[in-house]
Amino acid sequence: SISVPSVQELALQGPDKVPERYIRDEDGDGIIGTYPSDPNLHVPFIDMDKLVNADTQQEELQKLHLACKDWGVFQLVNHGVSTTTLKNMGNQVQRFFELPLQEKKRCAQRAGSLEGYGQAFVTSEDQKLDWNDMIFLKCLPIQNRKLDLWPQNPPAFRETLERYSEEIRKVTISIVKFITMSLGIQDTQISEGFREGLYDIRMNCYPPCPEPERVLGIVPHADNSGITLLLDCANFPGLQFLKDEKWVNVEPIEGAIVANIGQIIEVISNGIYRAPEHRAIVNKLEERFSIVTFCYPNPHTNIGPIDKLIGEGKIAVYKNLTHAEYFNKFFNRNLDESFIDSLR
Ligand code: SIN
Ligand code: FE2
Repeated sequence: SISVPSVQELALQGPDKVPERYIRDEDGDGIIGTYPSDPNLHVPFIDMDKLVNADTQQEELQKLHLACKDWGVFQLVNHGVSTTTLKNMGNQVQRFFELPLQEKKRCAQRAGSLEGYGQAFVTSEDQKLDWNDMIFLKCLPIQNRKLDLWPQNPPAFRETLERYSEEIRKVTISIVKFITMSLGIQDTQISEGFREGLYDIRMNCYPPCPEPERVLGIVPHADNSGITLLLDCANFPGLQFLKDEKWVNVEPIEGAIVANIGQIIEVISNGIYRAPEHRAIVNKLEERFSIVTFCYPNPHTNIGPIDKLIGEGKIAVYKNLTHAEYFNKFFNRNLDESFIDSLR
C-alpha cells in the first residue's frame, strides 16, 4: 500500500492552498456547489422511548418505517446511552488527535491493514485523497481487539472506548429489533444476531481546510454494515446524506445518535430499506470529530432477504450469502461497479 501524509500535520503548516492530491474539482468550480444542500429537508427523528412505550409504539414504528424506506438515516434520541459516556468518548477522541504525531504513530496502521491510526487506503499514486485522519479499531467481540493499536494516551481512552462499545451494542440490538418490527417481522432472530455481532469503530478527525469547497472529508459511499451509529462531536454540520439527488446536512444535536442503514439490512429487507449514500464535507476554520460504529451481525448469520418478505408473488431481489461470501465479495469488489448491485 501507499503511504499517505497526516492531514492534521498538513493543516498545521497553515497553507493557503490545498495540495493537488486532495482537489476533487479540476475545473475549480467547487464540488460543494455542484450538489446543493437542501435547507428545507431534515433527517427524521426517532424517539426510542416512544418505540418502547406500548401507547406510542405503533405510531413511532410507522415513522421508523418511513425513515428507513425514504431516507435510510435518522437521528435517534432517548436511546439510553448516557450523556456522560457520549461526552467522555468525544473528549477522549479529541485529546488523542491533539497528541503529537509521534505519540499517535505508536498506534499506526500496520502494512496491509486499515486498523489503527492513519488514513483510508489508497492503491495508486494518482488516487484522490480524503481530508481526514482516523483511528480505526475493532472493539467487539473482545477477542477481536488488537490492543497494541489501542492508544494508552490519553490514559482513559481504552476504558472509555470499552464502555462506549458496550453501550452502542445495546442500542444496536434494540433499534434493529424495532427496524425488523417496522418490516412486519415479529421474531427477534435478526436483532439477536447483533448480540455476538462485530463492532468496528472509526474515529475521524477533519482538520480545518483552506479550500473546503474543493475537497471531501469522506468521498460519497454507502456502508457495508448492518447498521452504522454515528456520534457527531461538532456543533456545525459536516455529514451529508443524498436524498432525492440533493445533499442534506445532518445538523448535530447534542445527545443524539445518527443511525444509518447499511447494505446488510438493505439485503435482509429485500431492498425495502436502503443503505443511503453519504459523505463528509469539511470546514474552513473548525476541526470536526466524529465517532462511527459499524455494526455487523455475528459471522454465523446468513445475509439474504428474510423469508417472510419473499414468496406470495414477491421475488427475492438479493441473493442469500454466508457472512464469508458477503465479505469476500466486498473485498474483491470492482470499484467501478456498485457493490449492492453485485448482490442481486
Ligand atoms: C462516514 O461516512 O463513515 C463518516 C462521516 C462522518 O464523519 O460524518
Ligand atoms: Fe459511512
